[in-house]
Amino acid sequence: MTEQPNLLLRGIGELVTNDRGGAGLLGIVHEAAVAICGGKVAWAGPLEALPDEYFDLPDLDCAGRAVLPGFVDSHTHLVFAGERSGEFESRLKGESYESILEAGGGIRSTVRATRRAVQESAAAGLLESAQRRAERMLAHGTTTVEVKSGYGLDVPTELRMLEAATALGKMVSIDTVTTVLAAHVVPPEYADDRDGYVRHVEEEMLPVLAPLARYCDVFCDRGAFTVPEARRILAAGKRQGLKPKVHAEQLAATGAAVLAAEVGAVSADHLDHIDAEGASALAAAGTVATLLPGASFSMRSPQAPARLLWDAGVTVAVATDCNPGTSYVESMQFVIAVAALEMGLSPAEAVWAATRGGAYALEEPRKGWIGKGTLADMVILDAPSHVHIPYRPGANLVWKVIKGGVVVVGSSGMRQEP
Ligand code: NIG
Ligand code: FE
Repeated sequence: MTEQPNLLLRGIGELVTNDRGGAGLLGIVHEAAVAICGGKVAWAGPLEALPDEYFDLPDLDCAGRAVLPGFVDSHTHLVFAGERSGEFESRLKGESYESILEAGGGIRSTVRATRRAVQESAAAGLLESAQRRAERMLAHGTTTVEVKSGYGLDVPTELRMLEAATALGKMVSIDTVTTVLAAHVVPPEYADDRDGYVRHVEEEMLPVLAPLARYCDVFCDRGAFTVPEARRILAAGKRQGLKPKVHAEQLAATGAAVLAAEVGAVSADHLDHIDAEGASALAAAGTVATLLPGASFSMRSPQAPARLLWDAGVTVAVATDCNPGTSYVESMQFVIAVAALEMGLSPAEAVWAATRGGAYALEEPRKGWIGKGTLADMVILDAPSHVHIPYRPGANLVWKVIKGGVVVVGSSGMRQEP
């Protein structure tokens, strides 16, 4: 990789800054330029106002294309072994996700495959498959990805998952943020002792896993963990320095969103069944609603009430939820398309939720927008406007991806005067 810490993007037809300096929600500037120095944005604005000091930087002509902040995918289960296409076909024939899980399939079959991969010293394969997925995410414009554990449900396998997620960030030009999801489902060895597993998570798993993660998540839903169990686990996570996140109201209305607000969760995720009470609780607590349109699309279930949440003043993020069961989706462009076409967000809101919203969900104040001092993580679309993302679903519209000021996808295309 050639180092290009300094770069001038010029000829930008539409610059999405997500900053108040520009027009509308997306802070759009037309006929714009961005000066990058040392991997950070030094200046962004209309080309005609570019300060002289940046005129001589090596430049890249965007030829009228749109430039956006890199996508922040704030909810994934990227590290796993195996695949579940057979289960996908059964669901298309009418079998339900929950009945498959109850019969020992679903999440439990990925747990078996992931444990096997680790026990058979095939952990390298676990990392390699995640690496290929992360590379495809980057190629589609994602520059930061959150990765959860949760397919180990025992200390050694959860550890290997988190180690793999951390290693990914060094192998692919993508930042990873890790989350412990030891409370995904109750593993088979604790089938007759739920409380024993909750205690095992609190007392043995979280203390060992916490140093490898930023967040503690719980699948608080019908068939997974109850609200009181989730409350205990999130409190134990906090004692280990992990901030809470909650898989909430995906399969049923359980009160998990109100719990997320109560514990001051950074985000409550899914929320397909959230109601007005839950929405106002999230708004009051400042908890981000991370919506996963690819999951509801793949499950053919109704989308989360994005409009209700947005209009209630909740900060909304969208993410892929990439996992082998409910959402084998890697592209944030696809997520934006479904959010706009099926969830009732405008193209601008969907793009904001995939960038700045995602950055809020991961507490990354220097990501998700383009302005002085932000990290130079950007996507250049081979299109004139962000609206083309939902307008042309299914295509990869990325022309280039810039990570920390370096062109990491697409050739550099730089022109420098002799
Ligand atoms: O976010 N809902 C719980 N966890 C994942 C699905 C995991 C799986 O089915 O493997 C989700 O949808
Ligand atoms: Fe999830």
